[in-house]
Amino acid sequence: SESNQFCDAGIEYGEPGCGISSSSSKILIKGGTVVNAHKEEVADVYVEDGIIIAVKPNIKVGDDVTVLDATGKFVMPGGIDPHTHLAVENGVLESIDDFFSGQAAALAGGTTMHIDFVFPVRGSLTAGFEAYKKKAKNSCMDYGFHMTITKWDEVVSKEMEIMVKEKGINSFKFFMAYKGAVMINDEILLEGLKKCKSLGALAMVHAENGDAVYEGQKRMIELGIIGPEGHALSRPPMRFSLHDLALIPLQLEGEATSRAICLAGFVNTPLYVVHVMSIDAMEEIATARKQGQRVIGEPIVSGLALDESGLWDPDFVTAAKFVMSPPIRASGHDKALQAALSTGILQLVGTDHATYNSTQKALGIDDFRKIPNGVNGIEERMHLVWDIMVESGQISATDYVRITSTECARIFNIYPRKGAIFPGSDADIIILNPNSSFEITAKSHHSRSDTNVYEGRRGKGKVEVTIAGGRIVWENDELKVVPGSGKYVEMPPFSYLFNGIDKGDAKYLSSLQAPVKRFKSTD
Ligand code: URP
Ligand code: ZN
Ligand code: ZN
Ligand code: ZN
Repeated sequence: SESNQFCDAGIEYGEPGCGISSSSSKILIKGGTVVNAHKEEVADVYVEDGIIIAVKPNIKVGDDVTVLDATGKFVMPGGIDPHTHLAVENGVLESIDDFFSGQAAALAGGTTMHIDFVFPVRGSLTAGFEAYKKKAKNSCMDYGFHMTITKWDEVVSKEMEIMVKEKGINSFKFFMAYKGAVMINDEILLEGLKKCKSLGALAMVHAENGDAVYEGQKRMIELGIIGPEGHALSRPPMRFSLHDLALIPLQLEGEATSRAICLAGFVNTPLYVVHVMSIDAMEEIATARKQGQRVIGEPIVSGLALDESGLWDPDFVTAAKFVMSPPIRASGHDKALQAALSTGILQLVGTDHATYNSTQKALGIDDFRKIPNGVNGIEERMHLVWDIMVESGQISATDYVRITSTECARIFNIYPRKGAIFPGSDADIIILNPNSSFEITAKSHHSRSDTNVYEGRRGKGKVEVTIAGGRIVWENDELKVVPGSGKYVEMPPFSYLFNGIDKGDAKYLSSLQAPVKRFKSTD
């Protein structure tokens, strides 16, 4: 196949229908603890032709069925990563993981579906959609798309409608940062929010004050701070009060998060804040949710598992691999985000997987502003979230399924086809052994990147088997993937987040006083 031109150590390729991918289209998973978001139970799971047929104890099958013993292990829905950038072009270069290598890495880590961000091509959403369908044609797992809105006019408005009604897209992302590139202003955000509401599509924001980020970056360069640490220092989550040198916990990420929440509340439409990286942004979301506003907060693995110290590493290559936006924060933000996730203030975990290798990151050797932004995570998410959140005792296995899979499926309106182990659901399943352990290193990971931000990290809990679309694609530390076997998943509008929105609108209208009747002065 075409993909063989790439040297991906440890990946065995198959052609569709060549039989390499699994010995059988019938699989029985015996004796495991089946975990769904609402409960766990000991049961067998029987799969045929990509669909879960039965979930119950003691299923008997014939000898044409592949049997996997899951005794003492957890059988869970495959992970769904709501936030990835595969084969993304940042204007200068293209990220190192394309749909095939990124998805292969995902499958090795127990993720069986991802939702990637489409960028318009020459301003056209339709052209962007077609370009991404092409990028994704070698997919080895299921995927969906979000669409990015980078400008506003009648054509964009019309194309948003086409995306929702004809192309299976139910979410649109707005960048409040990356000035001079994809950043939009409040006027465009408001137009977009109104349009999203009318279509039943979810508005998503990258929330940072882009003008201030731009200014902060210039300030660092003028001060001679040109290395990766300048990235963090240019847009901190705190600022000093000149009055008493106390730290004031509201800065560029919290401000934009608050502004987006305000505008979404004004329009009365649900809002999804991507990559919540700091306490200030998280607290804006907490406050809005307490007041009853429909705001979803997505932390990503790097924000939960890392702190900013890597950006100060004396080795440029090591430091540069941690550059992403919003920046990975000082120690303490990670723990606070974990706590917010465990208490439901934040709802689901993504990765923002956007990988560049060392030579690509080296574009910014003399100026941190030119370091391509992004970190890995698509392969590591399921392991790290298990270790940090479940193994540590912060959440249950059922909560783990909710934050890695089920809630994503509900928000993007594909539940229970995805995100559940029910009869009739897609056979995207993982077997996790809680007594086994994992170790992360660039030497053995499946991304094409030559570095890994989690290098050397070990933890408890290992995904031993991944089943995607009814095929065993990961077993005994070996990948057996089939280019072209992944399907595009259309996501319908009006998810549960829109239920009752119209009632809120009606309440608002009836709360307005009737217009004051005034007499003309000549009367
Ligand atoms: O640094 C990042 N996050 N790169 C990917 C683009 C984005 O902002 O999500
Ligand atoms: Zn090779
Ligand atoms: Zn972003
Ligand atoms: Zn992103």
